[in-house]
Amino acid sequence: MNQIPDVLYADQDFTTWLIVGASRGIGLEFVRQLLARGERIIATVREPWAAHASQLWGQAGSDHGRCQMYICDILSQESIVNFVAQLTTIPNLKIDYVVINAGVMRYPNRATELSFDEFAFHLHTNTIGPIITAQKLLQTNIPIGTIVFMSSDSGSLGQFREVEDGFAAYAASKAALNMALRHMAAELKRKDDDTIILAIHPGEVATDMSNISLPWEVSGIITPEESVLKMIDVIQSKGIQHSGTFWTWEDKVHPW
Ligand SMILES: NC(=O)c1ccc[n+]([C@@H]2O[C@H](COP(=O)([O-])OP(=O)(O)OC[C@H]3O[C@@H](n4cnc5c(N)ncnc54)[C@H](OP(=O)(O)O)[C@@H]3O)[C@@H](O)[C@H]2O)c1
Repeated sequence: MNQIPDVLYADQDFTTWLIVGASRGIGLEFVRQLLARGERIIATVREPWAAHASQLWGQAGSDHGRCQMYICDILSQESIVNFVAQLTTIPNLKIDYVVINAGVMRYPNRATELSFDEFAFHLHTNTIGPIITAQKLLQTNIPIGTIVFMSSDSGSLGQFREVEDGFAAYAASKAALNMALRHMAAELKRKDDDTIILAIHPGEVATDMSNISLPWEVSGIITPEESVLKMIDVIQSKGIQHSGTFWTWEDKVHPW
């Protein structure tokens, strides 16, 4: 799909970000802000011609190739593998930051009501897809600085959010993601691999996902602009000593 632009070659002095799930919401805002900062970006979408992704394609095309688009559906191992295989054809590619942002929340998803398929859908998208995407990237020879998983306060066991009626499958999928990424960080340490693994909670962010009518008051809603502005700083401030830790967009440690 892509002609490889010079700007993706590692011998140049740019920072490269990979944003998985960049068609809208928080992922699209990462692309917007990173483009404005002059970074180079690999952004994935799953439906390039869908109306909500066309804006991203427009930005990519009009910016001299600094943002390259790829297709990746994290519900499909084949799609993940194809995407990663395409990256391996870029000579000397290094990726400084990977943000695995893609996620779903079909509301409501109560444990007392949800179907087998609804539960599996949340786990496949929010847990298995992100972890396998990271795993496939780590199995290449591409040097990777940091992998950030977009987690959620809903997935915290230590700060259980009992008020969140209708969030059972979503919360369970993010809790499982948290556990798997901690194991990933520990495994990498044992292998002397210095890729940093982080979990981050983006805040209560006004996006399509949160645009639902909830019977409780959600306080402190922030814009994608504010969330991403702060998350970029948080992500860039972490070193290998932080691998396997969970942060908020405000740079506070989040309890697992
Ligand atoms: N918004 C919040 O308050 C909040 C709070 C805590 C955590 N989060 C987390 O932040 C992340 C982004 O959320 P958001 O609020 O920006 O949600 P959103 O507006 O609903 O966007 C979700 C993104 O994930 C992508 N996606 C969904 N399923 C995918 C799949 N199978 N393969 C590839 N991409 C897929 C979507 O792509 P399509 O356009 O193709 O559907 C879209 O780009 C999620 O992981 C979410 O759980 C959000």
